[in-house]
Amino acid sequence: MERTLWYKDAVFYQIWPRSFKDGNGDGIGDLMGVYEKLDYIKTLHVDAIWFSPLYPSPNADYGYDVMDYMDISIEYGGMEAFKKVLDGAHERGIRVVMDLVVNHTSDEHPWFQASRRGEEPYKDYYIWRKGADEKTPPNNWDSLFEGRAWRYDEERGEHYLHLFAVKQPDLNMDNPRVREEVKKIMRFWLDLGVDGFREDVITFISKREGLPDGSKLLPAAKGMSHYSNGPHLHEYLSEFRDIWEQYDCVTIGEAPLVTPRKALEFIGGKRPELDLMISFECMEGDCFMQEYIPHRFSLVKLKLIWERWQKGLRDKGWNFLYLENHDHPRVISRYGSEKYRVESGKALAASYLFQQGTPMIYQGQEIGMTNIRLATIGEYEDIQTKNHYHRYFTREPEAKRMERIWRASRDSARTPMQWDGGEHAGFSAGEPWFVVNPNYTEVNVADQEGDPDSLLNFYREAVRLRKELPVVRYGSFRQYERLNGKLFVYERRSKAQRLLVICSYSEEAVRFRAPRGYDLKKGRLLLHSHGEEIDGSGFTLQPYETRVYLFQDRRPRAEI
Ligand code: GLC
Ligand code: CA
Repeated sequence: MERTLWYKDAVFYQIWPRSFKDGNGDGIGDLMGVYEKLDYIKTLHVDAIWFSPLYPSPNADYGYDVMDYMDISIEYGGMEAFKKVLDGAHERGIRVVMDLVVNHTSDEHPWFQASRRGEEPYKDYYIWRKGADEKTPPNNWDSLFEGRAWRYDEERGEHYLHLFAVKQPDLNMDNPRVREEVKKIMRFWLDLGVDGFREDVITFISKREGLPDGSKLLPAAKGMSHYSNGPHLHEYLSEFRDIWEQYDCVTIGEAPLVTPRKALEFIGGKRPELDLMISFECMEGDCFMQEYIPHRFSLVKLKLIWERWQKGLRDKGWNFLYLENHDHPRVISRYGSEKYRVESGKALAASYLFQQGTPMIYQGQEIGMTNIRLATIGEYEDIQTKNHYHRYFTREPEAKRMERIWRASRDSARTPMQWDGGEHAGFSAGEPWFVVNPNYTEVNVADQEGDPDSLLNFYREAVRLRKELPVVRYGSFRQYERLNGKLFVYERRSKAQRLLVICSYSEEAVRFRAPRGYDLKKGRLLLHSHGEEIDGSGFTLQPYETRVYLFQDRRPRAEI
């Protein structure tokens, strides 16, 4: 099958299924609910859905602990419901991408059960080591979710590695049989008609031989340099490519710590090992490495990160653009302003939707959902959230510890989708599995549908425009006002068109002067959040105001 690179023109929508829409009233989002909402998804003009894991799972990490890679969880409606959604999506011209979680499985996966009993061929499917004794782990690596990265198993009499939760043992990718399993899983879904994979922490799958200790100086994540971009990663990804290159699909690799230069090792060249990479740098506008190590939001830092990626991948690779996902809390509460919720939501949307690359919108982002602030840690669900609370900064006063949770918890991105102002926000006829953000009476899809100035309709229009304008796909990227801490101004330029995007990140009015060579009066204002006035060579932006201008420099060929 010929690979068409369709993803370059696509906009993705991410669904975290448990909180999207409950179709059968048991309080848990499911595929019946997704099916009901396919027409809604189509109205966003998106081309593809990425589903966070739908597989059977004990949900220690909500689906990222997989028990069976070739089935769909009964909670979500099983295989039948999935096929219905797949067909329904395809009928509407929407592709479907699955989450492929192969760095680890659930400890309840039959492979792990057999492995801990020492049964062939599963004995070496995981990473087992003796350690000096039961209490002494084989090395000093930290788990990213729960204490140390090793757990002693009574049955086997050895320790197993888990970079994430205790219930997420790492697969031994050095075992060729394990790699054959991965290929089998890929083929299974691609043959079923799925259009690609988002590959979970894929840059962690190859661990350094001998599993040496990590630097003792690190306060957390010890050992990461020995498994991030490990020694055989390229080899293994290239093996996987042998499978997926036979299909017209997309592969998107999740890659913590990746830089533009590093990314090109994977997505550049003639035979890339992945089509796209999810970098975390665009999440570092208000933190180091992770939301739990915060600093004040710096627009300049964020702008330089965006610029580095736009320029770094230009003509060599392709960007994956996003502002939120199920791991990163709501962006209005972080980079924007809850006080200017709609305005800052629009500024954020225009800031990334007109960059070069493939953008993704996370469920609820399009209506401007915000973070939750639950009173006690006991009300939170997410394993990473709880681990942080109980493991780090434990000497701080309670109020400060909770503040950390409020700004960083993944649960803020996982509250039920707010469909309307009715009971449980229209998410479920029953009691939802997790709290609904109390702002659902003001922030919901139904209210925004009919309002031409709503954030939802702004997203629709922005996505529609980006698909209509070739300059967004092909144009070069240039920033103005690079070091201005209040404005993000960027240009996309092709032979015939220039697009000028102007976004304020300030709660105060800010004066904007058009760059040299720009006569705003000659531009077409394609999208705007406030007024249209221009005075002289510029205008004064209201708080979080956004404008997108198009300048037609030459007539497009067809018109000549
Ligand atoms: C990825 C997922 C995250 C999950 C982790 C372990 O980072 O996005 O949700 O917890 O991997 O699978
Ligand atoms: Ca349900």
